[in-house]
Amino acid sequence: MSNSKRYTITAALPYTNGPVHIGHLAGVYVPADIYARYLRNTGNDVLYICGSDEHGVPITIKAKKEGVTPQDIVDKYHAIIKQSFSDFGISFDNYSRTSAKVHHDTASEFFKKLYNEGKFIEESTEQLYDAEANQFLADRFVIGTCPKCGNEESYGDQCESCGTSHNATDLINPKSAITGNVPTTKVTKHWYLPLDKYEQWLREWIVEGHKNDWKTNVLGQVKSWLDDGLKPRAVTRDLDWGIPVPVEGGEGKVLYVWFDAPIGYISSTKEWAEQNGKDWEPYWKDENTKLVHFIGKDNIVFHCIIFPAMLKAEGSYILPENVPANEFLNLEGDKISTSKNWAVWLHEYLEDFPGKQDVLRYTLTANAPETKDNDFTWKDFQARNNNELVAIFGNFINRVVVLTNKYYEGVIPEPNEFTDVDNETLEKLQKYPGIIANSIERYRFREASQELMNLARLGNKYLADEEPWKQVKTDPERVKTIMYVALQIAAGLSVVAEPFLPFSAEKLKGILNMADTERSRSVDENVISTPLNHQLSWNDVEEKSELIPANHTIGKAELLFAKIEDKDIQVQLDKLEATKLANEAENKVVEPQKETIEFDDFTKLDMRVGTIIEAVKVPKTKKLLQLKVDVGIDTRTIVSGIAESFKPEDIIGQKVTVLVNLAPRKLRGVESQGMILMTDTPDGKLAFVEPGNDSVKNGEQVS
Ligand code: MF3
Ligand code: ZN
Repeated sequence: MSNSKRYTITAALPYTNGPVHIGHLAGVYVPADIYARYLRNTGNDVLYICGSDEHGVPITIKAKKEGVTPQDIVDKYHAIIKQSFSDFGISFDNYSRTSAKVHHDTASEFFKKLYNEGKFIEESTEQLYDAEANQFLADRFVIGTCPKCGNEESYGDQCESCGTSHNATDLINPKSAITGNVPTTKVTKHWYLPLDKYEQWLREWIVEGHKNDWKTNVLGQVKSWLDDGLKPRAVTRDLDWGIPVPVEGGEGKVLYVWFDAPIGYISSTKEWAEQNGKDWEPYWKDENTKLVHFIGKDNIVFHCIIFPAMLKAEGSYILPENVPANEFLNLEGDKISTSKNWAVWLHEYLEDFPGKQDVLRYTLTANAPETKDNDFTWKDFQARNNNELVAIFGNFINRVVVLTNKYYEGVIPEPNEFTDVDNETLEKLQKYPGIIANSIERYRFREASQELMNLARLGNKYLADEEPWKQVKTDPERVKTIMYVALQIAAGLSVVAEPFLPFSAEKLKGILNMADTERSRSVDENVISTPLNHQLSWNDVEEKSELIPANHTIGKAELLFAKIEDKDIQVQLDKLEATKLANEAENKVVEPQKETIEFDDFTKLDMRVGTIIEAVKVPKTKKLLQLKVDVGIDTRTIVSGIAESFKPEDIIGQKVTVLVNLAPRKLRGVESQGMILMTDTPDGKLAFVEPGNDSVKNGEQVS
C-alpha cells in the first residue's frame, strides 16, 4: 500500500440557494468522503475541505423571488447544507463559506496579484443589458441558444447541456431571464483572463500528461474544448452581489463567481490552518502534495481549464493531480431538479429513514454515476438494503456475534489447528484491503463497494460451509476454531467498511468491543466530523494474523441493518407521484378564451344527453372506439378517439353529452354521426362531460 503522503481533497462548494439532495451526495461528497477516510485510515496526511458557494446570480434571483436579501438566503441554506453533510458523516476537516472574511481577502489578493503582474486583459466592450430592469445580463440573468450544441436554454456563462463555458454575447437569440426582453447592449469595462494563451500548456499538461490516469469522460470534454479553441474569459461582472473588484475602475463590479469560488478551497484551507495551528501552504504549494478535485460533470470546464489557468498565472500553486468528475444521477427516470422539486432532499430522507445514513451512502455508491448518467430508484434502494446490507453483511455479523455469545458467553475462544479452508479464508481476508484500496485509488468506488460486500460474502460462505451450529454437537473443539476465524473476518470488515459505512462500522466496533476509547474529537464549530483514530489500520488487516484476540470479550448482538418494507418504499413513490401531479397542474397552460360568438351561433349547436349502449375498438387503431349511442332521437354510430383512456367494457351505460347535428364524417371507413363532448383530467386522461344525473332523459337538449 502507498507510503504516507499529503493530500488536499476538495469537494465542489455547493451553491447556497437550496438544500442538498442525493445527486450531490452521489456525485461528489460520498466518493470524496470514501477517498478521504480511506487515505486517513492508511496513514496519510489528509485535508478534506469544502464550504458554501455563496455568490453568483442564482442566489440573487432566489432572494428577489422571496423578497429577502441574498445574505438571508445564504445564511439559511449554509446552515441547512452544513447540517446535512454532518448528518451523513461527510468528514470534512473544514467547511467554510465564501462570504467569510478570509475568503474575501484571499480572492481579492489573488485578483490583485494577477492584475499587478499584467496577467489580465482590460477591455471595454458591449455587453448584454436589460434596459427595463436596469441591469447587465451576466451569467444566469440571460438565456439563449448555445453556440456549440444548440440547446435553447443555455445560460450566459455556461451551457448545462454540453458543459461548454462561453461569453454571454456568444448566445444566439439571447433573452433576459428577468423580464423576458430581448437585450440591448451597453459598453462596460471588464478584466479578461486570456485562456487562449494557456491552450497549448493545458493540452500538454492534460491531454498528453494525464491521458492514462484521468477519467475518459473528463478527458473527452477537455479535448473537445481545446480543439474548439479557447477565448479570453471575463473574470469580473456588473453585479452587486459578490466580491468587489479590488482595483481602480472596479467600482460597482464584482468578481465572477467562478473566479472566486474555487479560490474558496484555498481560503477554507487557510481557515482550517488558523484554527488548528497549522501551516496552510504545504497543502497548496508543496509539489509532493496531491491535489484532487471531486466534482460533477457540469464543473469540469472550471476545474480543468479555468481554475488551472488561474493557478498557473498566479505561479506559486500546485495543480490538481486528478479531477475525478462524475456524471449525473437521475431520480426514477427523470433529471433531478431543484425548481421542480424532483429530488430526494437529504434532510427529508433523514426524517423518513432516521439512522439510515449508511443505507443511502451505500446505495448511492453501489450505483454511482461514475462513467455514465445513472438512475436512482426506490426499488433499487430497497433491494440494496434488503439483499446486500441486511442479507449479507448484517446477517454474517449477526451470526458471528450471536453464536459467540451463545457458545462462549461472548469470550473469543482459543483456536485449534487451522484447516486448509481456514488458512485460505484468512489469506483471502488479508487480500481484501489491497483489492478495495486498488479500486478506491483508481476512483472506482462502485467496484470498491462491491469488493467490500464480497468480503462479507466470504464470511457468510465460510459459516455456511463449516456449519458451526451443527458441528457444535459433534466437534466443539473444531467450532472454537471456526468462530475464531469468523471473528477475524468480522474485525476486518469493521476496518475496511469504515470509509463506506462509517456509522455501521463504528457500531460494529462497539459490538466487537474494539472501539477506540481515546477518540480525539475537536470541538471546533467548523469541523463537521473528526476522523477517528482506529486501533486497527488497513495495514493491520493486510498483515496481522490476528485482528481480534482470543479471550477478548465481545458485546451483545445488535442489528446493524434492518429490512425496509414495501410500504416504506410506497410512501416515497407516492411522494414523487404527488410532486409530478403538482408540476403538471402548475405547467398546464390553460387555453385562452376563443373569439366571442353571438347567441344565434350557440343555438345552432344541438347538444343532447345520450347513453353509450355498445362499444368496440376500431381494428388496427390505437385511439378509436366505435360506439352506439342512444341520443333519444335515435341510436347512432359515433367514432370517438378515447380508446387510450377507456376500455370498451367499462363505458357501456355511460351518460354522455353529444353534439348531434355535426355533419357526419368517415373515420377509418366508419361513418361517425355526431361527437361526444370530452374534457381532460389533470393527469392527462380524458373524461366525459357527463350529465351525472341518471334521471335526466336521453334526448334532453344541453343548453
Ligand atoms: N457552486 C458550484 C456548483 O454547485 C460549484 C463550485 S466549485 C468551486 O456547481 F470550485 F467553485 F468551488
Ligand atoms: Zn451547449
